[in-house]
Amino acid sequence: MSVPDPLLKAGEESRLPVHVAIIMDGNGRWAKARGLPRTAGHRKGADAVRSAVKAARELGVGYLTLFGFSSENWNRPADEVSDLMGLLRFYLRNEIEELHRVGVRLRVIGERSRLAPDIITLIEESEARTAANTALNLTVALSYGGRPEIVRAAQRLAAEAKAGRIDPQAIDEAQFARHLFTAEIPDPDLLIRTSGEKRISNFLLWQIAYAELVFLDVLWPDFGRAHLDEAIREFQRRERRYGLTHG
Ligand code: IPE
Ligand code: IPE
Ligand code: MG
Repeated sequence: MSVPDPLLKAGEESRLPVHVAIIMDGNGRWAKARGLPRTAGHRKGADAVRSAVKAARELGVGYLTLFGFSSENWNRPADEVSDLMGLLRFYLRNEIEELHRVGVRLRVIGERSRLAPDIITLIEESEARTAANTALNLTVALSYGGRPEIVRAAQRLAAEAKAGRIDPQAIDEAQFARHLFTAEIPDPDLLIRTSGEKRISNFLLWQIAYAELVFLDVLWPDFGRAHLDEAIREFQRRERRYGLTHG
């Protein structure tokens, strides 16, 4: 996104982030604390996704992006991966009607080809069904890694250059960004991570260049409207400078 006018207008301190991205972490610890299997945490985590989407709609956030499954998460034990894929199937089958009814547009980003064929079909149908909706842009990152996304963009640009369609010297940030999964989506203003971990874990590496980072101690299954409010209040206390001097 372009650098905004450094002269902040009165009242702009209380602005809402246009795009909130969330690293939904802590399902396993939530379950462990209750002596339950990790799957129970993931199931409760899916309920928290519903709460987060509802809260974002109520607040009027334009874009909500959720990290659901990372490229690295494929390396978890096979039974956990298959539980997570089962939950994803269930979510896609059962939530789409409601998401569509309330005007949510769903997009999925990540290495889609690694997902099971029936899940790919469900994703394609869900994206097509909700494509004209405008109340909230919900993006779910599945089989997603920031570095693989950047490498893929570089491969595509290299192929275009090799074919003589583009001049390597003319590649700029905007053109690079158009080759990322997020080509149609503005960069996040606010990135939240739950569970107390303070790391990015390969999420949206390019896109969060100037995002405000907020780390919450809440475990993802317990996340709700109050936590989103808390993170947005923290965001509103921050001064975004974009490399400029104090405003
Ligand atoms: C986040 O919860 C969900 C996914 C990564 C799929 P975790 O499963 O990472 O939970 P913790 O970090 O072990 O508590
Ligand atoms: C990041 O959480 C991925 C998702 C939330 C989907 P992880 O639990 O996989 O990240 P690490 O392993 O703690 O860095
Ligand atoms: Mg985790």
